Amino acid sequence: MQIAMIQDKIVPITELEPVYLDRGIFFGDGVYEVVRSYDGRIFTLEEHLQRFANSLSAIEISGLDIDRIRSRVLKSFDVAGISNARIYFHVTRGSELRNHLSKADLEPNFFLTITELEDNTQAKTKGIEVSTHPDWRWKRCDIKSLNLLANVLARRDAAAKGCTEAILVDEDDLITEGASSAFFAISDQTLRTAALTANILPSITRQFVIKAGKNIGLETIEKTLTPQQASEADELFIASTTQDITPVVKFDGKLIGDGKPGKHTKLLTREFLSFTV
Ligand code: PDD
Repeated sequence: MQIAMIQDKIVPITELEPVYLDRGIFFGDGVYEVVRSYDGRIFTLEEHLQRFANSLSAIEISGLDIDRIRSRVLKSFDVAGISNARIYFHVTRGSELRNHLSKADLEPNFFLTITELEDNTQAKTKGIEVSTHPDWRWKRCDIKSLNLLANVLARRDAAAKGCTEAILVDEDDLITEGASSAFFAISDQTLRTAALTANILPSITRQFVIKAGKNIGLETIEKTLTPQQASEADELFIASTTQDITPVVKFDGKLIGDGKPGKHTKLLTREFLSFTV
């Protein structure tokens, strides 16, 4: 008899629920997105849907209509009724018995969650500590893939050091990005962050941080930094959909500036938040 075992329960393989045969579990064979709302309004949904379409296309999952995904997001957001919400949606290649090469006609699975964003006022007013970790990820980090093991391990390492985020460093001693955030430095009126390559996620928040920077008179240089350069910057911050701009006040144990969120970071945050209303 072909069987499966779920915890201690034996189930004939033919009776397994599709969720246990999801290629996301076996292979991380899928992609995802996260959008958030500010006071009842979803921010940059179209940009996220476009990146989602790019991720789907990059891993050759076809036949999913982005208009349908948009309506599912909007409908569930409406039902949830959470004003500051975090909406994750995932698509996997589908469910079938484990096989690296999937059947051609597999139906993709869609899964979405909406939860309330926790209050991050403390992190934003006091700033956070970060620590570096080797970037062990694959060579297509521009795809928002469900394979996040290297990110998870880096974050665990950071947490063990009492840090909130891990900053990933590649084999050339250059910072790529955070385990789940974009990474920025400010020195001499200049905003610096890694250029968009296949080594980093094309962060949506990054686009708007750069725009906010321009509005407040900061020049932007898209060039990677070494950990040494980062630790000597006037100001550091991370940016992501769920946390927007979060100041970094300690980098690998070294105080940044006077150990308080920097003045440009504060101005930038105010400008960024003006886009969300
Ligand atoms: N992560 N880089 C990585 C590796 C990320 O996982 C994220 C976001 C970002 C920032 O991208 P954006 O500005 O589009 O959110 C950069 C989200 C929060 C997550 O996966 O949970």
